[in-house]
This record gives sequence, structure tokens and C-alpha cells, in this order.
Amino acid sequence: MKAPEVPPDRMTWPPVPEIYWDGRPFLYFCGTGYLGLQTHGEVIEAGRRAMACGLHTATSRSGWGSTSDHEGIEKRLMDFTGYRECLYLPTGFLSVKTALEILRPDVTDPCGVLMTANLHPAGREAVRSTGLPVQEIDPDFSQLEGKLFRDGDDRPVIVVADGVFPISGAGPMWDRLEPILESGRPVILIVDDAHGFGVLGTHGLGSLNHCGWIPGGPFEPAQCRFSNLRVFHCGTLSKAIGGYGGFVLTNDQVNRRDSCVYTGTTPSPAPVAAATRMALEIFTASPEIHQSLQNNISYFKKRMSECGIATGALPVPIWSRSFDDAAKALQFWRAMAGKGILCQYFPSYSDASQPSIRMALFATHKRSHIDRLVAAIQYASAHTA
Ligand SMILES: Cc1ncc(COP(=O)(O)O)c(C=O)c1O
Repeated sequence: MKAPEVPPDRMTWPPVPEIYWDGRPFLYFCGTGYLGLQTHGEVIEAGRRAMACGLHTATSRSGWGSTSDHEGIEKRLMDFTGYRECLYLPTGFLSVKTALEILRPDVTDPCGVLMTANLHPAGREAVRSTGLPVQEIDPDFSQLEGKLFRDGDDRPVIVVADGVFPISGAGPMWDRLEPILESGRPVILIVDDAHGFGVLGTHGLGSLNHCGWIPGGPFEPAQCRFSNLRVFHCGTLSKAIGGYGGFVLTNDQVNRRDSCVYTGTTPSPAPVAAATRMALEIFTASPEIHQSLQNNISYFKKRMSECGIATGALPVPIWSRSFDDAAKALQFWRAMAGKGILCQYFPSYSDASQPSIRMALFATHKRSHIDRLVAAIQYASAHTA
């Protein structure tokens, strides 16, 4: 059978390692279901059972629409991460917006927002909607000097960054912000950890645990290394965790009514909330699932380095290659598909200005899958002009 010429335009299979597309088997290395929990039997069953109560509450959470599942998700997230406050939201896309809403009434005079140049549209749109002065900074946090941090000005600066960049799998150089924090300047950090939570840090606590700013383990208080740093840890349960919906975690006192996302949306539907709560329970109670993902990442990095192909510094399940034109990227994609590997083609995206091919590993991939992936990358690299 002839190898496919163009990427599929929609998904007709579940997000699992072995799939069928167009009547033929493929190994699937796409998307963000890093821990493989989206298709876990207990997650599916929890959603099915909850459907018996009707689809959703038909009222916002501020109008009695909070169910035991919405509240259970928040409680479990707080217990696991050690933050004192949590808001569970209908989507991760709204998490940075919600963080900005709940902090604004108490930040009367911030000197502005520093936003990384490659920020995901979720954060970018949220920052724009504040009307605050905004400056872009390099994604690797180089050249911070002079960027709002002027001598004699001790107003808080709000920094908004992705914890892990979605396509490249790289992340900010957090240590470059440390001299500013050590100088005592108040900083409010809003991190969109959509790809870091469940992946990086001890038991998947996320990017700020990985970089040592919120050290400690799961089920311990989230204490920041810097007393002048206020953290809003944003993320999604739709990627690694295998459920659905976003969250904001913080040690700040929160008035939920300050957020129009919270007061003005119907919360996630009952089956979604129940399935998400189950996925979160499974993830937090089973460190071995996170360990399997990390084992797969280490194995992939080792195999790639044996083949002389570089991978990034962070232990994340993302690898991508960018090309100067779309034709080359698609040639690479076709070579991979010809070897039975399905990966994703992005003409451009938040952190990818050039056409890119992105691959994602799951905890549920077997070593033999990873061996085939690495062999296909070698082959495709050799056969792309
Ligand atoms: C960095 C980042 N932030 C936010 C989101 C949105 O999350 P959700 O899909 O839960 O709305 C995504 C999803 O692609 C993302 O990559």
C-alpha cells in the first residue's frame, strides 16, 4: 500500500500509541496525552456514570453550579501541589486570564507586564486584555536588564511565561531572573505550565519545582524560595493529566468573584468533571505512571544521542524539527509516515515561526515503539533534502 502523501485533517482514532488511520496501522506520537490517561478504563467509566445526572449544571459556579467533582478537583490539586488556593476552570486557555483577574484588584500599581516573545496565544490574549503596559522579553530570559526593572522603582513587575514551549519543548532560563529576585524587587510570576504540569519536577509537580523555585515534594506545602515572588501556577488538566479543564494555583488569598471567567461560565460538564477528577486521582496516587513517562523520555534521549541527534535540555516528552520551508517539512513528515510513524506538522505556532514537525512521547509507549521512532527520524533526516 502506498504511503500517505499529506497529514490527516482530523482524528478518527483515540490518543493511544497504536492506531489505525486510513485502514493501516501507525505508531502515534502526536498531541499532549503524555501520561496516557485520556483512555484509562476508570476515567472512561467515571465519565459514563456521571452522565446519569444530566450533562451539566446549567448555571455558573458562582450561581450554585459547583458540584462535588469541581470542588474535589480543586481540593486534590491543592493537596498534591501544596498551594493554598485553586480555581478549576472550563479550559486551560482561560487560566492566565483568570490569574490576571484575581490578582489585579490587589495590584493597584504594577509597573507593567513582561511577556515572553513566544508566549502561547492563551497568555498573549490575556495579557493584552488587561490594558497594562506590556514589554516582550526573550523566551530564554536574556537581556532582562532595563526591562521595567529600573533602579529606584520598587513597584511589582508581572512576568508571564510558558513553563514549557509547546512545539520545541524548551523552556525559560529561570535562573536568569534570580539576580532580580535576589535584589528584593517584587515580582508576580504567572506561569502557563500547560506542558510542564504532570511532566517536569518531582512526581510531575511542574516547571517551578523542576527549576528549584518551589522545592519540596507532592503533598507538601508549596513554599517559594523567594519571599518577594508571588506565584500563579496556571495549567491544564487536558494534556498530561488526561482529564479536561484548566486551573490556577496560588498561595495568595483569592476572591473568586474577582474573576469573570469563574462567575461568567458554565463549569465543565458532569461527565467531564467526574472523569477529570478520576484522572487526577489516578495520576496523584500512582507515581509510577509519571516515572514510566520519565523512563521513556530518558530512553528516547539516549537512543537519539547514540544516533548523533540532539535533544533539548529539559526532560520533556516533546521533540521537534523546524525547516526553512513547508515543502521540506512535509517531505520529512512523509518519510516518517512511510515508516508507519504518525507525527504532527505545524506550518507555524506560538513558539515555532518556521514549519515544524513535532513528536510527543507517552508513558504508554513501549521501548520497541521508541526504537521505531528513532530509526524513522534517522531515515527521514537522511531523506529530506
Ligand atoms: C501553552 C498552552 N497554554 C494553554 C493551552 C490551552 O489549554 P486547554 O487546551 O486546556 O484550553 C495550550 C493548549 O494547546 C497550550 O499549549
